[in-house]
Amino acid sequence: MNVVLGVSSGIAIYKAVDLLSKMRKEGWDVQVIMTENAAKLVSPVVFSAVGNCRVFTDTYEIESGWIIHTELSKWADVFVVAPATANTIAKLANGFADNLLTTTALAFQKSSKIIVPTMNTRMYENPVTVDNLKRIQQLGWYVLEPESGHLACGEVGKGRYPDNEKIIEFIKIIVSEKPLAGRRILVTAGPTQEEIDPVRFISNHSSGKMGYAIARVAKMLGAQVCLVSGPTCLTVPYFLDEVVFVRSANEMYHEVLERAGGYDILIMCAAVADYAPSSRSAGKIKKIEDKLILELVKTPDILAALGQRKKGNQIVVGFAAETEHVVENAIEKLVKKNIDVIVANDVSEAMGKDTNHVYIISRNKAVVEVEGTKDEVAKELLLRICENFC
Ligand code: CTP
Repeated sequence: MNVVLGVSSGIAIYKAVDLLSKMRKEGWDVQVIMTENAAKLVSPVVFSAVGNCRVFTDTYEIESGWIIHTELSKWADVFVVAPATANTIAKLANGFADNLLTTTALAFQKSSKIIVPTMNTRMYENPVTVDNLKRIQQLGWYVLEPESGHLACGEVGKGRYPDNEKIIEFIKIIVSEKPLAGRRILVTAGPTQEEIDPVRFISNHSSGKMGYAIARVAKMLGAQVCLVSGPTCLTVPYFLDEVVFVRSANEMYHEVLERAGGYDILIMCAAVADYAPSSRSAGKIKKIEDKLILELVKTPDILAALGQRKKGNQIVVGFAAETEHVVENAIEKLVKKNIDVIVANDVSEAMGKDTNHVYIISRNKAVVEVEGTKDEVAKELLLRICENFC
């Protein structure tokens, strides 16, 4: 993918050097345009060395017969301005073409135009900037909102440059194809925790990575996504449509069942506890007896309940966490729970890792083996569901 990174003179400019490095690590071809003032803050040599790319600052630079702004605007698939100052935003919102960045932006006709506003809060909240940001969105620019927190000027408020990982993810969402546009997908992820007393619980080793990958990739592919998550240490993708946090199997059951009717595809990836203590001690259980016997009772089976209630074209997908006879046991679950697809894996291999090795099994018992990063497995699963059922 060809990216033009436009850099204006926000004080967060030093972070744009790392953004460029991250873009290169993604395998993107990048060329940089810096405004004259940006080049006073950080030398173009730094950008050029880090990005191993060309850096342009001057509209009138002689580039062996090239007209830089028209050539760059034709070459780029994506145009990103980060950081974008109030001044550059004002110019872009009003069609100014007074430097190489604004001129190239004006000549850029594709839809993937992204802006990362970064400035002092009072400048950001000034009605003129608010208006310019509205206008720029009407003109087709995607605006990644700044974050709130400590600003370089010592004030606290909205205007901070977001994490570069977030910017990269935002770009990926905008440029990826959208085969799942119009689909509504609900995903569960992570373990559940079943409380014994105020300080103890029963849980499992699920990291939530597979479910989060499905939710994130589904959104990138254009779906409307709701994630119902048990407790995990993962960063929640900020761009999902709804995120519901739960602790226990019971809570997950209620939150999922309440929403299920509004979704076309239900993917139950969570490692739900099968048993929970029959009662929760109000106080911490003291170490008095030599033996402690806990009574456990079955939790509701969310997937089976969805399989029972599914209507019309709704697709229900389950996961089978197995340690032996992976495919056979999974097929048994698919039939017993009356679902459409089951994804089987050997959990002793996959838990906590960034990769997975799964078997995607449909009702006609066709088995497809998929191996890769959890993002790759998620994409393959979603595209197969879409191809075969939607
Ligand atoms: N599941 C569920 N509710 C439960 C338990 C499991 O919705 N109370 C779902 C999981 O999210 C998964 C599927 O059922 O999609 C299979 O989970 P798994 O743990 O592999 O199997 P179980 O049905 O719990 O059976 P077993 O533990 O005996 O293998």
